[in-house]
Amino acid sequence: MLSLSQLCFELGFNQRMRDILAPYYQRVSLKYVNLYPKFMTIDFQEAYFIKETSSELRERIKQVAQFVKTSEAAQIYAWILHDGIFLADSPLPNREIPLAEKLLGDNAGVFQYMIATSPLPLIQKNYIKHGFQEEFIPKILLWISGTSQIYASGHHGLPGHNLQQTRWIRNYLNCELFSIGRLEYLRGTAQEWLPAIYLHKKTKRPIAFCQDGWILHNQKIIMNEKDQKENYFHSTLKVSGDSVTGYPITPNGQYHPNIKKTISLQEYMPLLQPDDIVPSIHIPGGGKMTPDAIKSSLLEAKEFFAKHFNNPIKLFTCCSWILNPYWQRFLPNSNLSDFQRNLYSCIPIFTKGTDGLFFIFGHDNGNINDFPADNSVRRAFHQLAAEKEKPFSGNGFILTADIEKYGTQYYREKANIQE
Ligand SMILES: CC(C)(COP(=O)(O)OP(=O)(O)OC[C@H]1O[C@@H](n2cnc3c(N)ncnc32)[C@H](O)[C@@H]1OP(=O)(O)O)[C@@H](O)C(=O)NCCC(=O)NCCS
Repeated sequence: MLSLSQLCFELGFNQRMRDILAPYYQRVSLKYVNLYPKFMTIDFQEAYFIKETSSELRERIKQVAQFVKTSEAAQIYAWILHDGIFLADSPLPNREIPLAEKLLGDNAGVFQYMIATSPLPLIQKNYIKHGFQEEFIPKILLWISGTSQIYASGHHGLPGHNLQQTRWIRNYLNCELFSIGRLEYLRGTAQEWLPAIYLHKKTKRPIAFCQDGWILHNQKIIMNEKDQKENYFHSTLKVSGDSVTGYPITPNGQYHPNIKKTISLQEYMPLLQPDDIVPSIHIPGGGKMTPDAIKSSLLEAKEFFAKHFNNPIKLFTCCSWILNPYWQRFLPNSNLSDFQRNLYSCIPIFTKGTDGLFFIFGHDNGNINDFPADNSVRRAFHQLAAEKEKPFSGNGFILTADIEKYGTQYYREKANIQE
């Protein structure tokens, strides 16, 4: 088998990459020696995938499949990526791996695209083993197609797949992620940005409070505590006897440091118990997140979770650049904004200040002023920069009991009554 040094030379990778790949090369040399990576063949791609793709991508997949037959380096590298990203207990740090352009030229992204499809048979087997009979594979293929649009944005229109998105596919393998209609749902517990939610016993309307100990500034939760500054506000939430006192969050995601509210536990009850499953919503690339598509996915997801999990799901949550509240001003008629208006918005979070750039521009390095402004969403990011705001993520939730009312802006409609 080709040595690791020779492999890295052919890939055009430096010493640092050699060190990163070493343990994964070692695994491959023990597990797959003399085995051909079938997922890099035309037969595999035709069986699973190729019909979903554009003609350019299809042509390039054929070229890569042909090339892999003749290159031992490409075969070993395919196994390293497949095994390291999808199967190793401690996964390959895929974000750090550069495109293997020296070996694969313009088709380096397509090679990665084929890697993304490689666990499909295993995923199918796992879902069936865990009792999920639903047909997920076509939806996962759509997710992978959506990643190609993102890759093209950052690579002069070439088709491909960024390795930084590949790890997401492990969630399918672990049967934690379910593609249902236009959206995906990741099984998990309550996220750290999720407020304390109470439900009015009679009206069944929710009210959200800032959690105890959040650090807030400028209508955002500051997630990076290193950045703590004196003028940051620390929220409190006190549950005493039969009342709860804290800082309420309006359904359009705002709190005020001077506005506290007390509710009675005679009237309200906590929505969640500590071990409740709280699935989060994720939006695959590919546009067209129309209100109808969202609503029917939510309705389907409600049924799906009720069928497969014992504890009833009380809400779905979402945290994304898509829910940045500025889009209400900059993109009022977009699907993004419509989605936001139909959730109970919570307090946005501030992390690195680059949220969404990768999904919309294909990368998040460099000065936003140099990024294209050739469509409405891209222009919205420029408008945000003009207001001296770095991109951040908004978030929100919808109770499963309220999904039927999706499209009516149910939570916002009564916002003033709740304050
Ligand atoms: C989120 C998403 C599905 C919204 O698409 P949509 O329903 O078509 O969106 P909207 O109506 O809100 O906006 C449409 C505009 O956005 C542009 N757009 C949509 N997806 C885009 C993308 N991935 N990259 C760049 N621009 C995009 C469209 O060209 C259109 O521009 P126009 O108004 O000038 O014609 C879409 O942005 C997308 O596919 N994003 C990638 C996945 C993603 O970001 N997921 C969330 C991860 S946290």
